[in-house]
Amino acid sequence: MSGVEGAVAALKAGELLILPTETVYGLAADAGNAEAVAKIFEAKGRPRFNPLISHVADAVAAERIAVFDEAARKLAAAFWPGPLTIVAPCRDTIAVSDLARAGLDSIAVRVPCHAGARAVLDAFGGPVVAPSANRSGRPSPTTFADAMEETGDSASAALDGGPCAVGVESTVVSVLDGRVSLLRPGSVTREEIEALVGPLDGAGEGHRSPGRLTRHYAPSSPVRLEAMSAADGEIFLGFGQGQGETRWSLSPSGDVREAAANLFRLLREADRERPSAIAVAPIPIDGLGEAINDRLRRAAGFVG
Ligand code: TXA
Ligand code: MG
Repeated sequence: MSGVEGAVAALKAGELLILPTETVYGLAADAGNAEAVAKIFEAKGRPRFNPLISHVADAVAAERIAVFDEAARKLAAAFWPGPLTIVAPCRDTIAVSDLARAGLDSIAVRVPCHAGARAVLDAFGGPVVAPSANRSGRPSPTTFADAMEETGDSASAALDGGPCAVGVESTVVSVLDGRVSLLRPGSVTREEIEALVGPLDGAGEGHRSPGRLTRHYAPSSPVRLEAMSAADGEIFLGFGQGQGETRWSLSPSGDVREAAANLFRLLREADRERPSAIAVAPIPIDGLGEAINDRLRRAAGFVG
């Protein structure tokens, strides 16, 4: 198998891929496969479920998953393929897992210009999520060797695309409710963006600091943690064998990866039923369990 074929086979099999882009190396997975996406958070260590960027082959593919207004279209036409990420409302018919979006109604999309990344995206045909391939708290890798050293062990394929030409992560702009905000500065500059779409809206920029880049999804129903069963009117999200209804189980077999993959979807579905509360079974605190517990504590209102 050639490098690109092997890369695509790994994505199709739900495995991780070290993917070169013009900005930094990414640790990539099939965006539609929540269990594959869970592996990314696991591989990065000290996992937190941040929303990920969906990489696609072109602007047409981007508009299949995101709703673009006039300003978003102008930005895409001017800077794609290239190091700009656009956050826009996601489509209802979305092919990207809830986990990849951290349960949000918006989605981040980008069309990279690196030839290796483009070959993979063309051949794979669907959206590919890829955060930077570093382990948590470490700098983003910009060479193949650095990427391999960081998270190569967790990937079943790796594409050597040479050193990254840009070397810093893509510029992230949100285009939501008719407002354009700069969420993360990058090599596409504020001036270049403003020349195209006019003055940026400063309001979104307060969210720029790490971890506060965006408001995370919170259910409108109260969330009760460490529950052993449902009280009257509650929905019980179980974990492990014999814990509540299978339909509402985060993982019937007690597997944290499966629980991560189901978390945001089940919170959403439970919320829609308007229960008196969503009661959630205790989840182990190690490995991916740390991220699950972090999200659950936030959903329950314990952390801002
Ligand atoms: O250059 C890049 O963008 C690299 C390469 C691999 O493409 N990827 C990258 O991904 O830097 P990551 O996951 O490290 O950064 C994604 C950024 C985060 O700051 C995240 O909060 C933001 O994009 N983001 C993703 N979805 C978002 C959303 N729906 N709303 C607001 N911010 C979002
Ligand atoms: Mg990163």
